[in-house]
Amino acid sequence: MSEPIPFSTALRERSSSAHSGSEGAGFMTDLMRGKGTRDDYVALVAQHWFIYEALEHAASRMLMDPVAATFISDKLTRLPALEIDLEFLIGPDWRERIAPLPTTERYVARIREVAATWPGGFVAHHYTRYLGDLSGGLFIGKLMARQFGFETNGIGFYLFGDIADPAAFKDRYRAQLDAAPWDEAEQQRVIDEVLVAYQFNTDLFADLAAAKARGHASVVA
Ligand code: HEM
Repeated sequence: MSEPIPFSTALRERSSSAHSGSEGAGFMTDLMRGKGTRDDYVALVAQHWFIYEALEHAASRMLMDPVAATFISDKLTRLPALEIDLEFLIGPDWRERIAPLPTTERYVARIREVAATWPGGFVAHHYTRYLGDLSGGLFIGKLMARQFGFETNGIGFYLFGDIADPAAFKDRYRAQLDAAPWDEAEQQRVIDEVLVAYQFNTDLFADLAAAKARGHASVVA
């Protein structure tokens, strides 16, 4: 009999086309290819603030759950870095000058909903953002630094100072996914929620492109 596929592998395989959809969104590819502006980048950072505020608030509540808690680590926490980046990019009044786009509002509402009720759903959102940040995110940070002349200010979000070996960290994270005591039905629900999380990220890039066409007026005042 062949070995069953580990859950983390199934998850990666089942979400790989959704990943391509997020990765290939026009707003993101333009930014990566040097066709984006500093304002585009700032608009993205601003949306990240709302998303991580919800995710990390949820994480503080999910520490009570024995399964969810195994995924939560201070080393991942992004909100303080995002706040320093926004202060650098926008100024001390950054909080009054940023607003969530419609997809961000829906994304945040979904994170709040699952985090209150469903540990597996929380893990789905946690995985989609942080494993992405520790993968393509590291590369994106370097590209943004080069394009916009940042050193560390402005790209702190992409610098995981407490994670010396991201590949080893991700391997441990995948081992935790494999060890989670979820039956097949629950594993399926978690995968479905990861697909929902990817869709929010893809839709967010469409919102950001639309906001760009309006001069980012609704994102950064
Ligand atoms: C231009 C944008 C992007 C690039 C270049 C990129 C690139 C990559 C690469 C190279 C990997 C594989 C790393 C490895 O094998 O360990 C990866 C994994 C991942 N990415 Fe992205 N990515 C992008 C956008 C996104 C977005 C928008 C999300 C969702 C928010 C995302 C979520 C993930 C996740 C969850 C993984 C881990 C998959 C796994 O191993 O289980 N990525 N990304």
